[in-house]
Amino acid sequence: TYKACLFDLDGVLVDTAIYHFQAWKNLGTKFGYALTEEQNELLKGVSRVESLNRILTWANYSATEDQKSTWLIEKNENYLDLISNMNPSEILPGVLDFLNQIKQAGYKIALGSASKNAEIILSKTGLIEWFDLIIDGNKVTKSKPDPEVFLKGASGLGILPTECIVFEDAQAGVEAAKAGNMRAIGIGDVEMLRQADKVIPNFVGIQASELLQF
Ligand code: G6P
Ligand code: MG
Repeated sequence: TYKACLFDLDGVLVDTAIYHFQAWKNLGTKFGYALTEEQNELLKGVSRVESLNRILTWANYSATEDQKSTWLIEKNENYLDLISNMNPSEILPGVLDFLNQIKQAGYKIALGSASKNAEIILSKTGLIEWFDLIIDGNKVTKSKPDPEVFLKGASGLGILPTECIVFEDAQAGVEAAKAGNMRAIGIGDVEMLRQADKVIPNFVGIQASELLQF
């Protein structure tokens, strides 16, 4: 039986995916590159450094380490600016109701996010109070699709990976969950998230007891 739900943050609980996309697009203009939505899909769940490396590869641009560090800071400053006014209204539809259902059912709730800004976002939106454990980009060394972030979630909660259900909007995140031996529920488009055990478009009207079979 399942004992915990591990949630990705960006694109699952809140729609910060649009802010990341905006900030990367803005950065791309510095080296004359226009990032597309299809490419952005491949950046979801991927760490900041790894995202920049991928973009530079697509742009066929070889930057010095100094240039890269500067751009990483600039991207994050822009991103922090974009999220500075976030508030509880930006929690995605159906999320609070779903969290309430699983909490009532006795599930542990943890975060498994690559973002180093996760705590700021959870605080600004008030989501932080729901979480028993937060594993974010400051606590891991390997980017999804490596399962590290979710495995640390399971061990931090003192349960087995096979007792965890992961909620993910990113291909890399679904892969990470499966690599960690967990059940993966994709949030979004079934075409994009083929490796997930099940895909739902969002949390609106979702009955936790049906979805998680308790
Ligand atoms: C999440 C997002 C990615 C983002 C990464 C790092 O996984 O899906 O788009 O690049 O976190 O976020 P950060 O806030 O640390 O730059
Ligand atoms: Mg995500």
